[in-house]
Amino acid sequence: MNIVLGITGGIAAYKAPDLVRRLRERGGDVQIVMTTSAEEFVTGTALQAVSGRPIRSNLWDKEAEAAMSHIELARWADVVLIAPATAEVMARIVSGGAPDLLTTICLATEAPIAVAPAMNHVMWNNPATQANRRVLEERGVHILGPGVGSQACGETGAGRMIEPDAIATAVFDLGTSKGEGLLAGKKVVITAGPTREPIDPVRYISNRSSGKMGYAMARAAIAQEADVVLISGPVNLPEPAGVEVHSVLSAQDMYEATHDAIEDADIFISAAAVADYRPADVKAQKIKKNDESMSIELVRCPDILASVAALDTGPFTVGFAAETEKVDDYARSKLEKKKLDMIIANRVGDDCGFDTDDNSVNVFWTDGERRFPTARKSELARNLIELVAQRFYAARGTDTQPRLTVVSNIE
Ligand code: C5P
Repeated sequence: MNIVLGITGGIAAYKAPDLVRRLRERGGDVQIVMTTSAEEFVTGTALQAVSGRPIRSNLWDKEAEAAMSHIELARWADVVLIAPATAEVMARIVSGGAPDLLTTICLATEAPIAVAPAMNHVMWNNPATQANRRVLEERGVHILGPGVGSQACGETGAGRMIEPDAIATAVFDLGTSKGEGLLAGKKVVITAGPTREPIDPVRYISNRSSGKMGYAMARAAIAQEADVVLISGPVNLPEPAGVEVHSVLSAQDMYEATHDAIEDADIFISAAAVADYRPADVKAQKIKKNDESMSIELVRCPDILASVAALDTGPFTVGFAAETEKVDDYARSKLEKKKLDMIIANRVGDDCGFDTDDNSVNVFWTDGERRFPTARKSELARNLIELVAQRFYAARGTDTQPRLTVVSNIE
């Protein structure tokens, strides 16, 4: 695997030679691109010795550019990895600026980009850094870590670069998906986001779902080379690259779009927060406030998930269960009642589950379960998609047993 390893100016750069060694042990060909500030923390001489290739750092180095230009380097890469990644480089990639060789390569490459953030915990938690992190994730950049623990500044918190071995493992997982993704050739239909059930022309009933989990699942399925159809309620998220997106509003619309897409699907993942009830009668004109109280009669919406699970030759069916109490019990009974292959359960409430970037889930299937501690939805989705693929192949009786790799954000 051809790896462009970008090293930026953080104290964790002292771990870069070890990281290079671990990438090379796994068969990686590593081309290092350093920023000027990285040179303050680690020497090019050491890195050149371990990587076996001349270090690149200057966009305007005529000799190096003549040998392999920045565009050729961007094309050569199977993966661009930035470790350590400072808050500054994350911000620069978000902005699309390209003032140096590393950010120019990021802009010019079509290869997956992975970044391993490393910074003081206050810098990591700063709203600006978190906003940049979210944008990068939404654009499909893989964020590896950071870990939680003691920091070079003497403080403790989230911001440590995860260990070189974990970074190397994660990078090779991205690379191996080239031409041999766990879901290559499989069609995956995913629902995401809330639904809107109209009351009158200006009002509707909806819920707090942001769609982030379903969108993260779609991105993770694409990374495993599935053909992904995403049926999305109204959300404020960019469309994931490579995904066929159908936008819908009501539960009935979502039901119809799902059944249109499901016929030749291998896997159905129902991550949407579909309304259970809708107003029986949608008023043609805006309802006026006359009385002290009013009531709206509600009728049941179709249960999309149960209807797919009931199909004779339906896909491998995965539901979500968002609960405020007795999460495991309710999830297990839903698994049975709706005749699902798998259910992913999470607690929701004021501070967890909905419209957050983190989630923790428990997954159940007929004769097994797995618990995933709190992690960012993107990271969780990667692990969940691997588990879904594993259970899908087991249910279909094939030998394919995908590897399970968990990039932990906790040290
Ligand atoms: O029964 P409950 O709504 O808790 O089940 C949640 C699961 O069922 C989720 O996967 C959700 O996407 C799905 N669901 C559905 N159609 C509904 C209600 C829920 O597909 N009308």
